[in-house]
Amino acid sequence: MLKIGIIGAGMMGGTHASTYANIYGVELVGVADERVEAAQRLAAEHEARSYGSIEELIQVENPDIIDICLPTDLHKAHVLYAASCGKHVFCEKPIAMSVEDALEMTEACSAAGVTFMIGHALRFSPDYQMAKEIVEEGKLGTIGTVRMIREGAPPGWSAWFKDKSRSGGVIVDLGIHELDWLRSTFGEPLRVYAKIAEEGLPGEHAFVSIRMKSGVIAHLTASWALPDGFRSFLELAGTEGLMKLDSDDHKPIAVTRRGAGAELPSSSWESPLNRSPYEIELRHFVDCVRTGTEPLVTGTDAAKSLELALAALRSAQTGEVVTFE
Ligand SMILES: NC(=O)c1ccc[n+]([C@@H]2O[C@H](COP(=O)([O-])OP(=O)(O)OC[C@H]3O[C@@H](n4cnc5c(N)ncnc54)[C@H](O)[C@@H]3O)[C@@H](O)[C@H]2O)c1
Repeated sequence: MLKIGIIGAGMMGGTHASTYANIYGVELVGVADERVEAAQRLAAEHEARSYGSIEELIQVENPDIIDICLPTDLHKAHVLYAASCGKHVFCEKPIAMSVEDALEMTEACSAAGVTFMIGHALRFSPDYQMAKEIVEEGKLGTIGTVRMIREGAPPGWSAWFKDKSRSGGVIVDLGIHELDWLRSTFGEPLRVYAKIAEEGLPGEHAFVSIRMKSGVIAHLTASWALPDGFRSFLELAGTEGLMKLDSDDHKPIAVTRRGAGAELPSSSWESPLNRSPYEIELRHFVDCVRTGTEPLVTGTDAAKSLELALAALRSAQTGEVVTFE
C-alpha cells in the first residue's frame, strides 16, 4: 500500500483526494493546509489525519508520495522539501512561476532519486489523446492549422489566481493546458505572439498565436471572461480533412475526411467506461512510482510548456513577437 499525503485542501486537493479513493493500492493518510479547518474537513471525508504544514505531515505520517495542490508560487519550496525527505512527488500544473525554478525542482527530484510528475491533465483526457492519435496516424494528412479554446468564469474560489505573480494569469494558469498538449502533439514552438484584454472584463481574455518549428500554425483563446460555465474546443485542419472537438456539442468529436469512407470515431465521452483525466493521470503516476518508470509528463517537459506560456505572457506585455532559440 502506497501512503499519500496531500498538501493543499482546496479545489484540486479535494479532486485528488476523491480520485485516490478510486485507485487500488493507495491510501490517503494525511492532508495539510494552512487553513486548519479545510485540512480537517477534507481529511475527515477520507478517514485521513489533518496537519498545518508539509513538515508536520511528513514527520508524523512518513508517506511514500506527496501530492502538491498549492497556489503555483508555492510549488517550488514544497517540491524541494518533499524531495529532500525522499518522497515521490506529484505537483499540479503549472510546475512553477519560472523556468529556472522548474529546472531546479526537476534536478532536485532527480538527485534524490524520486519520481516527479506534473499534472498536465489534457495529456490524459481521452478526447485529446484520441485527437493526438488521429494526428500521429496521419488520418488528417499534414496538419496546417490548430485552433484551441479554453474558457470559463474567473476562478472565484481563491483570490490568489488574480495575482499574476502567483498564478501567471489566464495564459499561464489556464491556457497552459492547451500549450502543453500542442507541444506534446506537434513538437516545439518557433515563435509566439499574444494579446491580453482585461479592461472592463470580469476576467482576462487572451489570444495567443504560435508558429511551431514543424510549420504548424496554432491559435489559442484562453479566457476567464465567461459569466459562468466552461468550454473547450479544438480544431485541426489537415490536407486530408478536418477534426473538431467541442465540449459544448452533444457529439463532441467530429472528423470529416476527403474522399470515401469518412470514418467518424465515436466519442470517448459516450463510453460508459469513460474515466476522468485526473483518474487516468494519477493512476499513471502511481504506476510509475511502483515500477520506477519515467512519467509521461516529466519536470523538464513541464518546464518547456511553462517556457512557452511565459513567452506568450511576455509577448502580451511587450507587444513583441518572442522567438525561441
Ligand atoms: N489540473 C487542473 O485542471 C487544475 C485545475 C485547477 C487548478 N489547478 C492548479 O492546482 C493548484 C491549486 O489550485 P486550486 O484551485 O486547488 O487552489 P485553491 O486555492 O483552491 O487551493 C489551494 C490551497 O492551498 C492552501 N495553502 C495556501 N498556502 C499554503 C501553505 N503555505 N501551506 C499549506 N497550505 C496552503 C490554501 O489554504 C488552499 O486551501 C494550482 O497550481 C492551480 O493552477 C490545476
